[in-house]
Amino acid sequence: MEITAENVLRALSFVMEPDLKKDIVSLDLVSDISIDGNTVFFKVQVSNPAMHSRKRMEEACETQIHLKLSPEVEVRAEVVALDQDKKDAPENRKVLPGVKNIIAIASGKGGVGKSTITANFAAGMAKKGYKVGLIDADIYGPSAPIMFDVEDQKPGMKEIDGKNKMVPVESYGVKILSIGFFAETDQAIVWRGPMASKALNQMVSDVEWGELDYMFIDLPPGTGDVHLSIVQAVPITGVVVVSTPQPVALADARKGINMFGLDSINVPVIGLVENMSWFTPAELPENKYFIFGKDGAKELSDKMNISLLGQIPLVQSIRESGDVGRPTILQENTSQSKAFEEMVNNLELKLNE
Ligand SMILES: Nc1ncnc2c1ncn2[C@@H]1O[C@H](COP(=O)(O)OP(=O)(O)O)[C@@H](O)[C@H]1O
Ligand SMILES: [Mg+2]
Repeated sequence: MEITAENVLRALSFVMEPDLKKDIVSLDLVSDISIDGNTVFFKVQVSNPAMHSRKRMEEACETQIHLKLSPEVEVRAEVVALDQDKKDAPENRKVLPGVKNIIAIASGKGGVGKSTITANFAAGMAKKGYKVGLIDADIYGPSAPIMFDVEDQKPGMKEIDGKNKMVPVESYGVKILSIGFFAETDQAIVWRGPMASKALNQMVSDVEWGELDYMFIDLPPGTGDVHLSIVQAVPITGVVVVSTPQPVALADARKGINMFGLDSINVPVIGLVENMSWFTPAELPENKYFIFGKDGAKELSDKMNISLLGQIPLVQSIRESGDVGRPTILQENTSQSKAFEEMVNNLELKLNE
């Protein structure tokens, strides 16, 4: 067969990428083909950049070209590590391949409303008609079972391709898995880093998530090893950071934003949500009391050049919604449900920019 770029590609379409389990041509991993007499040059990306794996790829390419083109061809393949972009593209992921956007919700401090915000993001996207999942990875205080009124439920089990997979619990159109389903809530458990990562990995990989538009992950509060191992184990689209307007909370939020931005971690921060921006009493719905300070998160987002996705008031009904297990965003047309809707719309816009 004649040595042309087209024929080289045809031959290489018989080479499988061992991790991604598809051929390297349909995965678009071959580039820069050039031909000089009997010598063929090209570049191939592999998901495992280890020496032995690159060597094996080189040999596989050579074998197919010799087989399909001619044993006379001199093959010069440059095998390089897969681009980060390619690695994170849904179709190339090993984990959660059917999930379009994976959003982690983080906070520097505990108790700032991270789980409340996560629950409303998830229920709000589901209300808009998206397919949504939620992983409650807060090992210190899982709260999704209460916030979605599914405390008495347990994930199911289903055999898929010979493997046992968990089936998430569903509430308000959100598929939910929580570390709280596996541990008694009143049982004090000391999770250690590796245990926490293992539990999270199982919630990601051993679960029948199916196709989702948005997956929200409620991270534990703070920014430390657990967070690092989570954001490295899961191909996260970006992080949303929640803070109250208090200076102490903002200082910790800033630390978190800086950590995610480190070169070695490099997870985009999609935006900031300010929670408990002002207090509004039920009997005086027009009044705003800035009890934790005014516009602190807004100023931080301006300074760090991050979007402010929303400002959520401190109102009794939000706390009550959490306790009865029906996210506030499902209320019809209240000022607090509108604040959450704006936050959800801003995230949707930001991700489709
Ligand atoms: N904007 C708000 N208005 C009223 N109560 C809130 C608000 N945000 C959170 N809460 C309440 O504060 C408590 C802590 O919130 P939670 O979301 O569990 O925080 P975190 O997950 O950061 O620890 C919960 O009881 C929750 O219902
Ligand atoms: Mg929480």
